[in-house]
Amino acid sequence: MFIVDKIRADFPILNREVHGKKLVYFDNGATSQTPQIVIDAIVDYYSNYNANIHRGVHTLSQEATDKYEEARLKVQQHFNAKHSYEIILTAGTTHSINVVASGFSAILKAGDQVIVSSLEHHSNIVPWQMLCEKTGAILKVIPMNEDGSLRMDIYHELLNANTKLVFCNHVSNALGIINPIKEIIHAAHKFGAYVLIDGAQAVPHIKPDVQGLDADFYVASAHKMCGPTGVGVLYGKEELLKLLPPYQGGGEMIETVTFEKTTYAGLPHKFEAGTPNICGGIAFGAAIDYLNSIGFDNIAKQENELLAYGTQELEKIEGLKIYGTSDKVAVISFNLEGIHPYDVGSILDKLGVAVRTGHHCAQPIMNFYGIPGTVRASFAFYNTKQEIDVLVASVKRAKMMLS
Ligand code: ALA
Repeated sequence: MFIVDKIRADFPILNREVHGKKLVYFDNGATSQTPQIVIDAIVDYYSNYNANIHRGVHTLSQEATDKYEEARLKVQQHFNAKHSYEIILTAGTTHSINVVASGFSAILKAGDQVIVSSLEHHSNIVPWQMLCEKTGAILKVIPMNEDGSLRMDIYHELLNANTKLVFCNHVSNALGIINPIKEIIHAAHKFGAYVLIDGAQAVPHIKPDVQGLDADFYVASAHKMCGPTGVGVLYGKEELLKLLPPYQGGGEMIETVTFEKTTYAGLPHKFEAGTPNICGGIAFGAAIDYLNSIGFDNIAKQENELLAYGTQELEKIEGLKIYGTSDKVAVISFNLEGIHPYDVGSILDKLGVAVRTGHHCAQPIMNFYGIPGTVRASFAFYNTKQEIDVLVASVKRAKMMLS
């Protein structure tokens, strides 16, 4: 049974105050909060078995290796990958995207076409622009509609025999829009193109099924799903991970090294040079267990209620405009007419409400709407309607002070 007060007790940070007010944390899109069980996993690692992995015969090293590889299996199961070696543990979504973009720079040719959606975070735009500059490939963009949905008609027109790669987020970070990734993947495959899905903003809300989606690559970060920062996942189909060259050279990614020639290790180690974020990986596994113990059906139910209530109450404020109204997760991106989002965010902070303001690393979306940025309230399953009441009252107060 889902009882929000019981769940809130799992998150020590939710008890703190900011500027003398009880914290209302609505910046979950930037990073989610960490439950005690994940904090305990971090403390346990450093207190009891901190050691380097895959390297030692000693007990601590074996224990750390076992726990880290156990975490990889948890990620594999959660994302429904076919093989555990298709799960590369990285430093996060940005790192994962760069591994793929850098790999394809050795494969793409001038004149090849890559397609990106206009709803992307800069991390799923800039690496591909760099790839195009290097290879002479051409970047095409799927435009968006006023309601934040993608122009799928244009996407289908853009696809052709030259299309090699398509990149799209599962959920837009700035607006929370859920993209039709199954259709995007299916259509790209008809032309033999590969698709990378940026799942960073989807994973707190939706359990991904990479095999069901037939995604070629799916990337995400642990810290958006109750895990620590500095660790993430790159899922890739086995044949594609075999095709791509390594991203970094170093220890652990090799089979043999001589000064004449080095041969690379198999998957997943080929992409995991150097000492990884061992503790982070183990804590990522703990976060996955935690979210599954809550249940994604319960998460969706609670968040959808928050989204509906928040939308209804914020819309009552005269001069408040919400951006992105198509099918979405629990994110409300808005502005008050004539008032800069940064000013609204600063007043909200003084009232204890944490939101993100600005362009959200998604400048093309802001350019589309002709605005400098928005105020973004992004909810999690541990948020409450009472907190939304605080947000609404605080936005009204900000409007009064700034008008
Ligand atoms: N990508 C994160 C956000 O949308 C940081 O806030």
